[in-house]
Amino acid sequence: MIKVYESVVNYDRWINNELKSFSEKLINFKLDTPDSTYAFSATEDGFLLHAYYGKSLGEDDLGYLLKLNENPFTLKSNLREKGTFMDAKSFEYPCYGTGDYRESCLKVLDKNNMSACELHYDSYEIIKGKPSLRQKGLSVIPATFADEDEASTLIIRMVDKPLKLVAKLYYTVFNDKNVITRNVIFENEGEDDINLTRVLSACVDFDNSNYDMITLNGSWARERFVERCRLHHGKQGIDSVKGESSHQNNPFVALVSSNCNEDMGEAFGFNFVYSGNFYACAEVTQHKRTRFVMGINPLDFNWVLEPGFDFVTPEVVMVYSDEGLGKMSRTFHDLYRENLIRGYYKDKPRPVLINNWEATYFNFNTDKLIDIAREASKLGIEMLVMDDGWFGHRDSDNSSLGDWFVNENKITGGLKHLVSEVNRLGMKFGIWFEPEMISPDSELFKAHPDWAIQIKGRSMTQSREQYVLDYSNSEVRDYIYSLMKNILDSANIEYIKWDMNRQITEAGSTTLPVRKQRELWHRYVLGVYDLMDRLVTDYPHILLENCSGGGARFDAGMLYFSPQIWTSDDTDAIERLKIQYGTSMCYPPSAMGAHVSDCPNHTVGRTTPFDTRGDVALVGTFGYELDVTRIPEADRAKIPGQIDKFKKYNPLVRTGDQYRIGNMFEDNMWDAWMFVAKDKSEALLTFVQVLGRPNTPSRTIKAKGLDENKTYLVEELNLRLSGKTLMNAGISIDMYGDFSSKTYHFVSAD
Ligand code: DGJ
Repeated sequence: MIKVYESVVNYDRWINNELKSFSEKLINFKLDTPDSTYAFSATEDGFLLHAYYGKSLGEDDLGYLLKLNENPFTLKSNLREKGTFMDAKSFEYPCYGTGDYRESCLKVLDKNNMSACELHYDSYEIIKGKPSLRQKGLSVIPATFADEDEASTLIIRMVDKPLKLVAKLYYTVFNDKNVITRNVIFENEGEDDINLTRVLSACVDFDNSNYDMITLNGSWARERFVERCRLHHGKQGIDSVKGESSHQNNPFVALVSSNCNEDMGEAFGFNFVYSGNFYACAEVTQHKRTRFVMGINPLDFNWVLEPGFDFVTPEVVMVYSDEGLGKMSRTFHDLYRENLIRGYYKDKPRPVLINNWEATYFNFNTDKLIDIAREASKLGIEMLVMDDGWFGHRDSDNSSLGDWFVNENKITGGLKHLVSEVNRLGMKFGIWFEPEMISPDSELFKAHPDWAIQIKGRSMTQSREQYVLDYSNSEVRDYIYSLMKNILDSANIEYIKWDMNRQITEAGSTTLPVRKQRELWHRYVLGVYDLMDRLVTDYPHILLENCSGGGARFDAGMLYFSPQIWTSDDTDAIERLKIQYGTSMCYPPSAMGAHVSDCPNHTVGRTTPFDTRGDVALVGTFGYELDVTRIPEADRAKIPGQIDKFKKYNPLVRTGDQYRIGNMFEDNMWDAWMFVAKDKSEALLTFVQVLGRPNTPSRTIKAKGLDENKTYLVEELNLRLSGKTLMNAGISIDMYGDFSSKTYHFVSAD
């Protein structure tokens, strides 16, 4: 709900040894979600001051929260301390150059190369629902969506008069979720170009610094490990400058109260709906307050905003929880499942797939793939995915990217024949692409060396022996898409794995004009979105799974196009406990690509029981990543049972609420989690014993999220207990062996 009201604040100030009375007329904006309030006000001279973000407030006049009576004081006719005022007050959208020395959201360079700007409040508008994001002439920008009865949007128009620059601040408030989204649209109403050198999407000024910051950090094969640290004076933050959201830092930050855990305390979650360079920073200021900002990374960024044009920033999703991290995550999960993920598979179970990457790497042909499919189909697996190596002359990772022509020496008989054979076995067929890349050893590079991102006269850095295509150039996108279309139209392809295996270096385009070169980073991301948008529009029934060397682009921008993302190249069940735990902080488990692979695990060399690998992969899309014709018979025999289990429990994972019980970052001996149906009629509890422990009594695991007044049958224990008992006294779990797991199904027995 959005409420706008006017009020007057009266106060006295000593000025030059004289006590003077002042009054300030405010326009107040109060944004209420079910459990949170976000409030700010416009002063008479147009400062847009932040008042509050936190637990729901009553219907009071919140103008006093602006602390206008506090030093330093500047309003209207009294401008003698404006500089101090600018550096102390809480601003909704701080600008660089007129006295606010903290992290700013906006910095410009005007025609005289001057960098100061100051936006002043002009007017507001409220609309029902939520407008989609698209910059004129460019791609759609991923964003959450909402119908008129789900949310309303407040648009605050701000103006920098000398620059004739308009900034429209968008705030969408969800009616039944503790979610507010933010983004900004700039319009140049002047006659001269304005260089936007820093355009962040959101700022929140908190009135204290008593927070911990939680981030998701890592590397290849260990993405999104959870880190928590106390805020301290100065700046602390995360970013990406790689051209993608990255393995190293995910565009998610939570600021939480120091007592916050899974179930209690305050959590403010921020997620940037973007797949490129991002920046997030918490700054503890001289006044022991905290400013948090998030948006496109200003490093190496410049956008030339020409007269009459606009610039649309991607959005920041803000989630508030007064019941710890668990509720924060469940809010993100609901929002992304209901209001971000789209398309045919949005609410549908995903086919159980088998991917040949870890089974064969590049060493496969039609016969090998059909052998795998034949065996897999007997076991109940529903789709074969042909991974990297089917095109050009690619037998290792050193060639052919960009040559999206079937290599008929490997795929003997052609793709149509292979797909028909797989279909005849009753299975769907999926295929791998890496559409953003070009190998130096490719026909494409011979014909169009200028299509790679590069700086003329400087050597081009290779990574995995490949370059990145310049997706800011529509000719490049059109050509790659035409090749993909030829493949997709040539056979019954029902799934695409879209991979991306290197980052951008020497960021230059051979086609952008000199003054627009620094737009490349953002234009590249928009180009990727453009191609994905065309793909999901033209092939609405194809299941798109994103991937980037594992999980380097597991972000909300990608979820707008693909309902699932490959979580990590690390398929070891124990490593996955940490990766999937961290990923679930912000992203729904239903979107996590998770497969059972062979042992010893290819990444860490660890051997875990087949059952545990299955139970851990249940927290995700579920599939196999192994040579089913060669694994031990005992493992193979377990696959039909695992698939039955997946079919039984996947609806809970896809639509239920997740409750994290264990935490591998705090106790590396065990982990546990639950999925509870929205109506609390059933639940699945999974327990993984990481290391066995000798001569110690069983562990007590307390359930979460049940209805305390319902009676549940715990099927595996044949126990009938109330939700109250299960959640307060728990169940005893006695297990033997390292890396072992158990699942417990709770069914309402009322
Ligand atoms: C990286 C992906 O994460 C893997 O699953 C696999 O598709 C390889 N690329 C193929 O090159």
